[in-house]
Parts: sequence; structure tokens; C-alpha cells
Amino acid sequence: MKTLIDTAQAMVAGGKGLLAMDESVDTCNKRFARAGIPQTVEMRRAYRELLLSTPGLANCISGVILYDETIRQTRADGMPFVKVALDTGMLVGIKVDSGAKYLAAHPGEKVTEGLDRLRERLQAYAQMGAHFAKWRAVIAVNDVNLPSPACIEANAHALARYAALCQEAGLVPIVEPEVLMDGKHSQERCQQVTEAVLHSVFEQLYRQGVVLEAMILKPNMVLAGLACAIQNTAAEVAEATVQSLLRAVPAAVPGIAFLSGGQSGEQASSRLNAMHTRYDPPAGPHASPSKCALPWPLSFSFGRAIQHPALEIWAGKEANKPAAQRALLHRARCNRAALQGDYNAEMET
Ligand code: G3H
Repeated sequence: MKTLIDTAQAMVAGGKGLLAMDESVDTCNKRFARAGIPQTVEMRRAYRELLLSTPGLANCISGVILYDETIRQTRADGMPFVKVALDTGMLVGIKVDSGAKYLAAHPGEKVTEGLDRLRERLQAYAQMGAHFAKWRAVIAVNDVNLPSPACIEANAHALARYAALCQEAGLVPIVEPEVLMDGKHSQERCQQVTEAVLHSVFEQLYRQGVVLEAMILKPNMVLAGLACAIQNTAAEVAEATVQSLLRAVPAAVPGIAFLSGGQSGEQASSRLNAMHTRYDPPAGPHASPSKCALPWPLSFSFGRAIQHPALEIWAGKEANKPAAQRALLHRARCNRAALQGDYNAEMET
């Protein structure tokens, strides 16, 4: 267990975060289609090579989350992607859920599947060199009847079963209960639901015997729905998010790495930055008497909020690769700056 605890701490150490590049084939193809990129195995491989071989990425990124197709792929010169990541100093993670499926008898709600044969799959990924895994649950919200207790409980139970199996296999579980941004709900409603979900998740983690010191929590920020007329400032988002985490996340958890969930790169960076201008991580290098100390480091595990500009610039063309890598590195640097409270709008000019 000591190795797992060390790995979990390393995932959120050094002012770095995680790069989620674990889109399923379907999701990756949808994003390629929107960007006019052919949806082939080779284009997905070439794109992932572009991301992983970005010079300087490991200065901001402690680990990368891969997908089943990607963890088996190689660079054009034959070097396995796992070795590319490890050689540049990044840990390797793997998405192991098989996606969110409609929850029977609960219209509009989903439960994440993938527990069947998970023990065997986790052992195989550990042998391929993975250090950690990820499982994402999605929780839909409205102002009336969503989420149902059944949806929260089913997802929390699956997350805890997954997390226990990961630790048994020698992998650190990233536990990701995502309260979705879609809808008209207020920030207050998101906060209420986020806290209910987190309480349920930690109750289930306790029941399943998951060692909290050897996991990472990947939550949503507390945000008003995308269609809500009132959108909050970065400071308001930071305050509500940290308040919810303090109410629901045990101090034994070694780190919290946010998902971006459809926020723009700039929004995600500025909200993360606002958390770090007001709150200090434990024994942080920039500890300040004017800030409130938190029991866990707050970091990022962004997908779209880091990758999106790079994908648009690349557009499937080899000639665009250097510019796309610069765009990826820029977003990674913005988020690293946000972890010090040093991000500002001038970085975007
Ligand atoms: O599970 C979701 C991804 O790991 C994070 O993606 O930052 O685009 O929400 P996102």
C-alpha cells in the first residue's frame, strides 16, 4: 500500500496536474468529426503522439490518462506510448470504465458500467505499466427531480467497487463523480447536489474498504448550469467549490484533481487560480498567513480545457503539429500557474 500512497501523492505533487487524454474511440471520433479530421485509428494514434511528445509537457503534467486503444499504441518510430510517457517523467493512467448507460426505471439518468471482468483487466493494465486508473460517473441535475437517490447510490457503489479492485491490483484509483453542467440549475443547486454525491461516494468507499490515502478524487467545480441566466465569478466558484469539498471530503485523501467538464480553457484556469489565491495547499511552498490552509492539494485533471485549442490547430495536418504542441503547452502552463495563484488574463495575450 505504501507504493500506492506514494504514487497518489506524486500525482498531485510539484505544482503539476494530470492530462486526461482518455477519450473513448466514439468520443474522440466525434471531436475529430467536428474539427474535420478523418476518424481513423492512425489519426487517433498520430494525435495522441502529438500530445505525448510535446516538448516540456512534463514540467506541468505529472501523469497522463490513456484509453485502452492508446495504451497499446506506439510512436511512429515504434516506441510504446507508455515508455514515451515514463521516459519524459510522466506517470501512466488508464480509463477502465465502459461508459455511462441509461439507468433502468430512471429516465434521464445514467449509471457507469464496467465492473464485469474488471479484476482481470486491471491486472493486465498494471502489467502494461499503468500506475493509476480512472472511472467516471455522471450525474444529471435539474431543479425538480434529478438526480434521484437511486442514481447517486448506484454510481457511488460502482465507484467504490472499482476503487477497491484498483487498490487490490496495485493501481491508484481516480474516483470521478461528475455533476454535469448541462441545464438551467443555479450554482446553489449544483452545490447541494455535489455535496450529496460526495457524501454518498465517501460512504460507499468506506463500506468497500477503500484506503483513502491511496486514491485521488476528481470532482466537478461547483458551477451554475450552462443555461442558467446567472453565471458566477471565479471567486464565487472558488468559494462554493472549496466549501463543498471541506464539508464532504476527508482530510486523509491525498489530493483533489478537478475535471473541466465543458468549461473553456480560460474559465477552468481562472477558477482554479481563484482557489489558489484564497486557499493554501497543505505545507505549500507559497504558504501565506493571509490564506486558509486546506487539508489536500487542489490540482487539475483536465481533458477538453487543455486539449481543445491544440486539436483545432492540428486539424489532422502534420505541418500544424509544432503550433498545436505550443498551444497544448500553453494551456498546461496556464494551469500550472493557476496552482500557484499566478495565472492572469495577460497570459492569454
Ligand atoms: O472523464 C473526463 C475526463 O477525464 C476529463 O475531461 O476535463 O474534458 O471534462 P474534461
